[in-house]
Amino acid sequence: MESFKLNRELARLALLQRTELATSIQKKVRKFFGRFLFSKIFSKYILNVNKISEDYYKIMHLEYQTIKNFLDSNQNILSIGAGIGGLEVIINNNHIGTKFTFIERDFISKKIKYGWDNKNEEAYNKLDLLENFLISNNIKKTNFNIINFDKSSLPDKKFNLVTSLYSLDFHYDFEIYRSYLSKVSDDNTIIIFDTIRSDFFRDIFEDVSVIKVDNDTLHKSKRIACRKFKN
Ligand SMILES: C[S@@+](CC[C@H](N)C(=O)[O-])C[C@H]1O[C@@H](n2cnc3c(N)ncnc32)[C@H](O)[C@@H]1O
Repeated sequence: MESFKLNRELARLALLQRTELATSIQKKVRKFFGRFLFSKIFSKYILNVNKISEDYYKIMHLEYQTIKNFLDSNQNILSIGAGIGGLEVIINNNHIGTKFTFIERDFISKKIKYGWDNKNEEAYNKLDLLENFLISNNIKKTNFNIINFDKSSLPDKKFNLVTSLYSLDFHYDFEIYRSYLSKVSDDNTIIIFDTIRSDFFRDIFEDVSVIKVDNDTLHKSKRIACRKFKN
C-alpha cells in the first residue's frame, strides 16, 4: 500500500484541509463540541496518523488522475492553496524536472468554516510543516519555493500550469488572483480550479473545459481547466 510520510501535526492539517478524511466519530465530535473545539483540540488528539496518511494518499492519487493530461516534464507549476502538498508530491514522483511555487497562508483559523468566505479570512496551513512534508516526501528543496500570501510579494514569472484544488473560487473569490494570474500566464498556461459557477469563466477565458464534476458534495462544484485570458 502506497502512503505519504505524515507526522501527527501534518495529519492534523490534512484532516482540517480535507473534511472527507474525518471518521464518523470525528464528525460526531465536531457536531457535538463545535468547530472551535474541534479545530483547536480534538483534531490534534483523536486521530489515526497511519490511516490519514494512507487515505490522504488515495485521495490525492485520484485528484492527480483528474489533472494528469495537463502535466509534462520540466514544467513550472504554481499551486494556490495546496494545503500540505500531497498532489505536488505525486506530480513530482511522476514528472521529472518539475518546479513548484506554492502560494499559501501561515495560520489556522480559530473556528474553521468550510463554506464561501467573502473576506478570505479562513486558512488552515503552516508553512514550516508544508516545507517539512515536501522534503520528507522527496521533493528537493531546490525545486520548490513557498510564498506567504499575507506577507510576501507574489513572484513575477510565467507558469505553465496553475492548480488550485478546492481553494480559489471555491472558498474565496477568483477576483483576488485575477490580475495576478493574467500577468503570470501566457496563451498556453492552463489554470485549473474548482468552482460552483463554471459558466461565469467562459466570459473570462477563451477556453474552459470541465474536467471533474462533484455532484456528491454539498457545493456541487466543477473542476475546470481554463486557458487564455480574454482581453
Ligand atoms: C480546502 S483547503 C484545500 C487544500 C488542498 N488544495 C487540497 O485539495 O487538499 C484550502 C486551502 O486554501 C488555503 N488558502 C486560503 N486562502 C488562500 C489564499 N488567499 N491564497 C492561497 N491559499 C489560500 C488554505 O490555507 C487551505 O490550505
